[in-house]
Amino acid sequence: MSEFSALGLSDWLIDQCKQMGISKPTPVQENCVPPILQGRDCMGCAKTGSGKTAAFVLPVLQKLSEDPYGIFCLVLTPTRELAYQIAEQFRVLGKPLGLRDCMIVGGMDMVTQALELSKKPHIVVATPGRLADHIRSSNTFSIKKIRFLATDRLLEQGCTDFTKDLEVILSAVPAKRQTLLFSATLTDTLQELKSIAMNKPFFWESKSEVRTVEELDQRYILTPEKVKDAYLVHLIQKFQDEHEDWSIIIFTNTCKNCQILTMMLQEFNFPTISLHSTMKQKQRFANLAKFKSSVFKILIATDVAARGLDIPTVQVVINHNTPGLPKMYIHRVGRTARAGRNGVSITLVTQYDIHLVHCIEEQIQTKLKEHPVEESEVLKILTQVNVTRRACEIKLESTDFDEKKETNKRVQMILEGKDPDLEQKRREELEKIRNQKKKFKKKINEAIQKKQSMILKKKLLQKKLREKKGTAKQ
Ligand SMILES: Nc1ncnc2c1ncn2[C@@H]1O[C@H](COP(=O)(O)OP(=O)(O)OP(=O)(O)O)[C@@H](O)[C@H]1O
Ligand SMILES: [Mg+2]
Repeated sequence: MSEFSALGLSDWLIDQCKQMGISKPTPVQENCVPPILQGRDCMGCAKTGSGKTAAFVLPVLQKLSEDPYGIFCLVLTPTRELAYQIAEQFRVLGKPLGLRDCMIVGGMDMVTQALELSKKPHIVVATPGRLADHIRSSNTFSIKKIRFLATDRLLEQGCTDFTKDLEVILSAVPAKRQTLLFSATLTDTLQELKSIAMNKPFFWESKSEVRTVEELDQRYILTPEKVKDAYLVHLIQKFQDEHEDWSIIIFTNTCKNCQILTMMLQEFNFPTISLHSTMKQKQRFANLAKFKSSVFKILIATDVAARGLDIPTVQVVINHNTPGLPKMYIHRVGRTARAGRNGVSITLVTQYDIHLVHCIEEQIQTKLKEHPVEESEVLKILTQVNVTRRACEIKLESTDFDEKKETNKRVQMILEGKDPDLEQKRREELEKIRNQKKKFKKKINEAIQKKQSMILKKKLLQKKLREKKGTAKQ
């Protein structure tokens, strides 16, 4: 591995890296930093936890120090937590510059954000939806002069479709700019390229068949659906008994499940906290901070936390459900074994998920190992766990989780400057139009069928007449 100084980075940046415990560049940094410094567009494709963020943050900061102005760089990323993390990395590494950054993500106050944008921050880190909203609705800021447009795992499979928002954003940025794209998989990188056309970019991909890192020990447990939670409790208990310093991320499929599992594990006195999209944004950030600082050792999350999140202390990822998309699996388990550390992932697999595991194994070119468990230990706690879960479900129903979800949605809309009642009316009207269309379609179909049966009848009648005539002649 070469040194940072050999890549053309300035001493002050190298010092900043050292303060963060970064002394030698990772391959993605070693290969992508020089061409970016030379002014080329760049596409970088490397495994999870391999330092892709610094691979674009460092050269952008260097260029910013040579010619500081705002808005200098726009970074687009799919989730709010990821935006926060990227902005933080800019802030830490760019501290000597007196860097001003700004985060434009959904779920936060639009007016405050507009004000921040008008102050011309050096770096804007945004989720596409919210930034597009700002571009559509305000002229208090401009991204016409940005020098860099960077995207971090924006168009990965299983992500929201940002096509419309990207169109708005791309029409607001200058054609003459440097574009930097980073993703964990090649197909995703290429898809990003297609929608953000670039001139002969420098392309770098880490050469490896296996898409997950070597340091990750990937396991599975085959379990009936009803015993899943008991396995989960058993796994955590064992891990807690055997380790002093630990943290675990558990991924599950729905917000409600996330909530129920959190309540259930709290009943067992595990320091658990959750992260899902039904929560208010401020709560999401607060919970993540509590988990990062190890106040809580277990984070139960939906796939909002699957991409890009970098929490070095996470040693275990448990998939409470087997992810349907192999790439989602790669993202989820990539939350551990980062930057050369070791990590374990354990996927709970029911008999209905076996084909999903085969797809995952094919994609990652690795076989998952069976995780040894003493079943008798699990059976001992099975009833207690299931009763506790049921109690939590009942408790959650009484707190009107679904109703709260609706209220949160309304609050979110108000924050976004939309009128929830008007939106509701619009939705109702749309529904009406859809129903009318359906009725109309039905009528047309009926009419066509009627006509067809009439024609058929006529034909039959004619056939009969012909036959009659034929017999009469004979
Ligand atoms: N050269 C380096 N040496 C040591 N650690 C590094 C280096 N560069 C980055 N890191 C650290 O590695 C961790 C992972 O980096 P980062 O989040 O950028 O990975 P990533 O490739 O973006 O992963 P993902 O695909 O999950 O988004 C971070 O904690 C970062 O501080
Ligand atoms: Mg990343």
